[in-house]
Amino acid sequence: MPSEPPSHEIVIVKTLEERQQCYDVRILVFHIEQKFPLETEIDELVSFPKPMEDSATHFLLRLIPSLSPIGTIRGFKYPGKDYYKLTRLAILEEYRQFRFGRELVESLHNWVRQDALQNLADNSDDFVEIVCHSQIPVKGFYAKLGYEPEGPEFDEDGDPHQKMIYRMPLQPSS
Ligand SMILES: CC(C)(COP(=O)(O)OP(=O)(O)OC[C@H]1O[C@@H](n2cnc3c(N)ncnc32)[C@H](O)[C@@H]1OP(=O)(O)O)[C@@H](O)C(=O)NCCC(=O)NCCS
Repeated sequence: MPSEPPSHEIVIVKTLEERQQCYDVRILVFHIEQKFPLETEIDELVSFPKPMEDSATHFLLRLIPSLSPIGTIRGFKYPGKDYYKLTRLAILEEYRQFRFGRELVESLHNWVRQDALQNLADNSDDFVEIVCHSQIPVKGFYAKLGYEPEGPEFDEDGDPHQKMIYRMPLQPSS
């Protein structure tokens, strides 16, 4: 078990500088560490209906008081669809196993809950779905957070992935 986690905070990104810090973490983890191509990392050119990175909500995990960025996650909802997507979850290697990944996912879940209660046309069944495309070695991580596999593994950016879905209660359990 690691030692105590360092002091930290999670903020919803408001400035371009903070968003760039999310990109910096993603590039270090997905491109430098995991060797995914740099050109697939930033979705600036993908439109749904405006550029993906602009449409998304970005979360930044940073140390305090230094404000040094150490993790990120991104959430969004496709226009006209009734589910949300969890994407680009990354913690710098030296800060793993402190439950920071879990904290980021839970922050995203809270944001989804608020957004769904305000904006989903039909939230009458009291659940909302969150979809992620999990890399195979981290399926167990998502499973611990309530995500269940759906369908066969598939290739994404040259690497096998598994679609996983969390059916989240809209009212937090008491
Ligand atoms: C996946 C990742 C975000 C996990 O972050 P982390 O901060 O190390 O994970 P946490 O400490 O929050 O782990 C939460 C729980 O999941 C477990 N867990 C972590 N990684 C796991 C894995 N690969 N497989 C199974 N369980 C895992 C932890 O043991 C912990 O369990 P517990 O709550 O019962 O003690 C991190 O390993 C990472 O950034 N990996 C590289 C990028 C990546 O693969 N992103 C996902 C793309 S789909």
